[in-house]
Amino acid sequence: MITSDIQLAADELSRGGLVAFPTETVYGLGADALDEDAVRQAFALKGRPAHNPLIVHVSSTEMASRLVRNWSENAERIASRFWPGPLTMVLPKADRVPSVVTGGGDTVAIRMPDHDLARSLIESFGGPLVGPSANRSGTISPTTAAHVEDSLGPDILVLDGGPCPRGIESTVIRLTEAGAEILRPGVIGSDELAEIVPVIHSEHELTANAPLPSPGMLKKHYAPRTPTRLVDDLGELPGQAVVVCISEPPASSRAIRMPSDASSYAARLYAALREADELAPEVILIERPPGIGPIWDAVRDRLSRASAQN
Ligand code: TXA
Ligand code: MG
Repeated sequence: MITSDIQLAADELSRGGLVAFPTETVYGLGADALDEDAVRQAFALKGRPAHNPLIVHVSSTEMASRLVRNWSENAERIASRFWPGPLTMVLPKADRVPSVVTGGGDTVAIRMPDHDLARSLIESFGGPLVGPSANRSGTISPTTAAHVEDSLGPDILVLDGGPCPRGIESTVIRLTEAGAEILRPGVIGSDELAEIVPVIHSEHELTANAPLPSPGMLKKHYAPRTPTRLVDDLGELPGQAVVVCISEPPASSRAIRMPSDASSYAARLYAALREADELAPEVILIERPPGIGPIWDAVRDRLSRASAQN
């Protein structure tokens, strides 16, 4: 059920239930982060493997600091610069954070969303909420309330905030005394982070040009049901394809045109992949966007996972 009633949503959370809520990135599947049973329900509804940890959403840095063993100087600096915003910090967890939240590990991922409804919901409920993307595990993340219902069914209560303005998931960093390591690319990139804390580039990143694997960073993820391929030019397209592209598509093809600036492309991406899927072609061909900068890097990360083979 889709609602705009924050109190109704907060009451559902207080009963130990689940509520999907909007953020600036994608919709999250909210549950009381300190209630093991509620968190287990969120894992079950998503079909998510128990070892893949969840992000805890807060409405203040004070709330964040009570979830970690030690709120470090680096954490404070990152929070003052990037919160509220699409940046998630992984830090050693406090004992009160149940280990179901952290996939059994001793670190917890935390962020403060840049969305009024999300923060109002956390405030009305009165505590931190887990918020994995509100979709079945491995599928395309939801950027509207209708996407959430399509993925999780009509029984889930969805707080409607309209389309998510950013459109792709937050940057996830592991934060230590030494600095920040990017685990999942997002709209906040390493140059912006490096203005605040040292950015550690792992061996893995240097050799494989890929971010350090976080437990949830699967090669295939964010994927349409239809086989999906990344292509470099739109020359020879099979007739049964749907093409997702910035440049002019061949006259004969079914195409979904994408905006050419990075922010608009990212905001549109997941809805476009869903539309392509609904056309039920034999294959979805995505023109690889050539742009430079953190948002394009994050977009290409999602596109490579959407088109990865099992
Ligand atoms: O933008 C977002 O981050 C959205 C909105 C709803 O906030 N949430 C989101 O959650 O994308 P989810 O669960 O779909 O992705 C969380 C990512 C996964 O890749 C997970 O492995 C990683 O964060 N993560 C969570 N806790 C972690 C931890 N303790 N250590 C390393 N990675 C962690
Ligand atoms: Mg997800």
